Amino acid sequence: MLKLENIWMQIASDNGEDKEILRGINLQFEQGKLYAITGPNGGGKTSLAKVIMGIYQPSQGKIYLNGEDISDLSITERAHRGIAYAFQAPPRFKGLTIKDVLGIAAPQAEPLQQRKYLRDVGLCPEDYLDRDLGPGLSGGEIKRIEMAQLLLRDNSLAIFDEPEAGVDLWTIQKLITLLVSSYKNNPDKTAIIITHNEKILPICDEIIVIEEGVVAGRGSSSEIWHLIKDEIECKVRNQCQGEMIYEIK
Ligand SMILES: Nc1ncnc2c1ncn2[C@@H]1O[C@H](COP(=O)(O)OP(=O)(O)O)[C@@H](O)[C@H]1O
Ligand SMILES: [Mg+2]
Repeated sequence: MLKLENIWMQIASDNGEDKEILRGINLQFEQGKLYAITGPNGGGKTSLAKVIMGIYQPSQGKIYLNGEDISDLSITERAHRGIAYAFQAPPRFKGLTIKDVLGIAAPQAEPLQQRKYLRDVGLCPEDYLDRDLGPGLSGGEIKRIEMAQLLLRDNSLAIFDEPEAGVDLWTIQKLITLLVSSYKNNPDKTAIIITHNEKILPICDEIIVIEEGVVAGRGSSSEIWHLIKDEIECKVRNQCQGEMIYEIK
């Protein structure tokens, strides 16, 4: 479905020197599967998602979607071919309501569908449809609204960048149910979820570990658990400030 061939990407750092962010990424994603991309902060996960969406240009390498070379296509052209990306830190649009942005994301969608997807991401349509997408909303709310936009658009390849960020534990369960029902075993769709979440990782068909700009591991969650266990345990410890809140299996 999606094939990344020898992707290299560099960005000019503050001191003016080019920094290699992605270093020869080769990956293939199949239709009908749910993938996780995980790995340490700064490893290149978001950069890879932005390269797929066309926001960052690789310095080398090719991207193929269903056999077509899309390496030189714009963001809009890639969106028309069914690729969608939910930002790690979604932009806010002051002056637009949630109803407006859902309408822009999917002009054909019925109001009933807008309401359904808002409810699916845990937001009551009566409370949210007319609210402004400005600073009055929390980071978690903004992320859920962006997820509703993606689901409403019905894309063939959806990339979610840390959808769990700013979302409380109860909603994570809802998020998992939504990801499973929308993407798991859906033969027409592929989802890539960038995540550190120990509950989301096991629901994915395959996990890819990106570290220092390279693919450091790839396999089922049990196969690559040894590569990510320390980081996830550490993250859980950070959340509870030194106390282990529950054991990780
Ligand atoms: N626009 C940018 N300008 C400068 N450095 C960037 C930019 N985007 C990413 N980087 C750098 O690239 C590296 C990888 O970042 P990122 O892809 O966000 O990692 P991850 O999502 O795995 O945490 C980091 O060192 C980050 O600082
Ligand atoms: Mg990131």
